[in-house]
Amino acid sequence: MNYRLLMRMVCDPRFGINRFDSYLFAREVAKQKKALDLETERQRSIRFLSHHFDCDAAAYLEEYKTSQFLKEYDETNAALLKQLGHLRATSSRFDCETLYLTVRAAKPQVVVETGVLYGAFSAHFLEALERNGGGQLICLDLPSPPGRPPQDALVPPRLRGRSKLVLGDTKDTLADVFKEAGSIDLFNHDSLHTFPHMMWEYLMAHRALKPGGVLTSHDVLAGRFHPNAFPTFTDALGYRHTIVRNYGIAIKPSDV
Ligand SMILES: C[S@@+](CC[C@H](N)C(=O)[O-])C[C@H]1O[C@@H](n2cnc3c(N)ncnc32)[C@H](O)[C@@H]1O
Repeated sequence: MNYRLLMRMVCDPRFGINRFDSYLFAREVAKQKKALDLETERQRSIRFLSHHFDCDAAAYLEEYKTSQFLKEYDETNAALLKQLGHLRATSSRFDCETLYLTVRAAKPQVVVETGVLYGAFSAHFLEALERNGGGQLICLDLPSPPGRPPQDALVPPRLRGRSKLVLGDTKDTLADVFKEAGSIDLFNHDSLHTFPHMMWEYLMAHRALKPGGVLTSHDVLAGRFHPNAFPTFTDALGYRHTIVRNYGIAIKPSDV
């Protein structure tokens, strides 16, 4: 980008420094994602999960790829795309796959996820819990604006019984959800992707997670000039962690 364009954007009151910052962030993250080789990313998650959960994560991948669920999910996804004309902000199929493998490997009983949108991640959580043979999912999101498809639009009806939706800003709802749940096995962040909000959700989740519990997060890539919440948090608290494309997986140590 040339200097004159940069100055025009920063000084333009309709654009301003904050939107310019978001623009730079999005541009850098898009560049990073484009440079990644998906097969390399996939192999990293298989190695990490197989090693830390003493399982054959490659077998879970095979199970996922050949599942009836995936066919169903792709059809529902295509229908929603046709209805809306776009599926902006919905998690990519690749990140959904990594989440599925994580849940199959870690076998959580109580899962809390923030940021649901149309339920791409929820559908994958619920299918993996079903295959595990048990577990419940608590989903937190803001109320949908009028006319938006519901938070379970991408979830097959047969899986909906294992989940509960809590509406409101996580700043107002998360503490009560954790209090009611007692302790949890897996927390996934995918709500507001600002450094302070991510750090706050991670810290709240850290207190609720059992030792050895799993902290996962979407949107863990950051620009060069931005602080990156996921590695900052997991390094500070000694979680073993990896990043697979734009999805972070971390395991809470037993002694913190
Ligand atoms: C990136 S989308 C989530 C995508 C979703 N996980 C999926 O699998 O497609 C972000 C979601 O977070 C929700 N959100 C944003 N800020 C929030 C907050 N402070 N509290 C609760 N939900 C929030 C939005 O309503 C939106 O549905």
